[in-house]
Amino acid sequence: VNRFNDLYLRAARGEKTERPPVWIMRQAGRYLPEYRATRAKAGDFLGLCKNPELAAEVTIQPIEILGVDAAILFSDILIPVEPMGFAMTFDPSPVLDPPVRSRADVERLRVPDPEESVPFVYETIRILRRELASRVPLIGFGGAPLTLAAYMVEGKGSKNFDKLKGLLYGDPRTAHALLDKTTVVMERYLAAQVRAGAQAIQLFDTWAGILDPDSYETFVVPYVRRILDALRPLGVPLVYFAVDAAHLYDAMDGCGADVIGADWRLPLSEVSRRLSGKFVVQGNLDPCVLYASPETIAARAREIVTEGRKAPGHVFNLGHGILPDVPVDHVKALVAAVKSA
Ligand code: CP3
Repeated sequence: VNRFNDLYLRAARGEKTERPPVWIMRQAGRYLPEYRATRAKAGDFLGLCKNPELAAEVTIQPIEILGVDAAILFSDILIPVEPMGFAMTFDPSPVLDPPVRSRADVERLRVPDPEESVPFVYETIRILRRELASRVPLIGFGGAPLTLAAYMVEGKGSKNFDKLKGLLYGDPRTAHALLDKTTVVMERYLAAQVRAGAQAIQLFDTWAGILDPDSYETFVVPYVRRILDALRPLGVPLVYFAVDAAHLYDAMDGCGADVIGADWRLPLSEVSRRLSGKFVVQGNLDPCVLYASPETIAARAREIVTEGRKAPGHVFNLGHGILPDVPVDHVKALVAAVKSA
């Protein structure tokens, strides 16, 4: 009989654990042949996200293949954005049409009930909780408002985010109206994930690091805080992850998370010091270390485990999502190294 592995939940709540739990951002992804096979069955990436049986299948693949300590719902941060009023495609990067550029564009956006607009997300979660009951916890997730607004305003990824920043600095009232509307959508979308069975929630704020600390306090902290405060009474651990954001750690204190995800740019002891030792930290192997030999990967993993012991708690992860062309054996070597650390 398999016993439920609650290591991730205990570490995320700040309890002392015998070793850090390990999971990998984008762990269900193109580097796995099994993922590519299931995606081909679904047709394309969006078709996979919208098919609960197949989305649950790829969510479970890394649990079985790698033996990681948590599952993360297979979906995308832009799934709840599409029904706000966009045509959305992935090639594989996301494209949203039409982009939001004016006050009228923001007014036009809908605030749909997520259980009606994206029911497949909740059906996937319910299937997963049944199938994972004797295995590992299920992490739900969403995008933070600034990062979602970045895609809505640019219409796609961007190098400098000039249209987003043009809106923030040139027409802050419209920017706040967009962030407010997105916050309302995300509060409902994520609370419903927890009600459906998600046992932790991670907010991805991939593009927050493009801001200076004052702008981050103005355009990010209040909105992230509203979402996490709304989720707080539901009792699940709350994780906030931003990339290239070491200059924002002071202000991040105001976001109301339990766990802060870090990229690879600073050692975890320094990340924790800059967060005043108040948070469990998650991270932070450079995803590109997975191109090195299994011996090098294991050595770097052990260093990160040692660094993590200097924080109030540690969840092992990469510093950003896994890349599509890393060898699966190298990923297995990483998981084995963390488990024996
Ligand atoms: O971690 C997981 O395994 C859960 C699944 C997950 C995906 N996207 C699947 C996905 C999660 C948590 C995300 C979050 C996400 N999506 C973020 C934040 C995290 C980050 O990476 O910074 C962002 C910015 C997006 C938007 C997005 N979706 C981009 C920029 C891309 C293209 C990236 C690429 O691989 O070229 C996607 C597509 C996407 N989302 C894929 C996957 C597995 C690749 C699609 C495919 O199978 O072809």
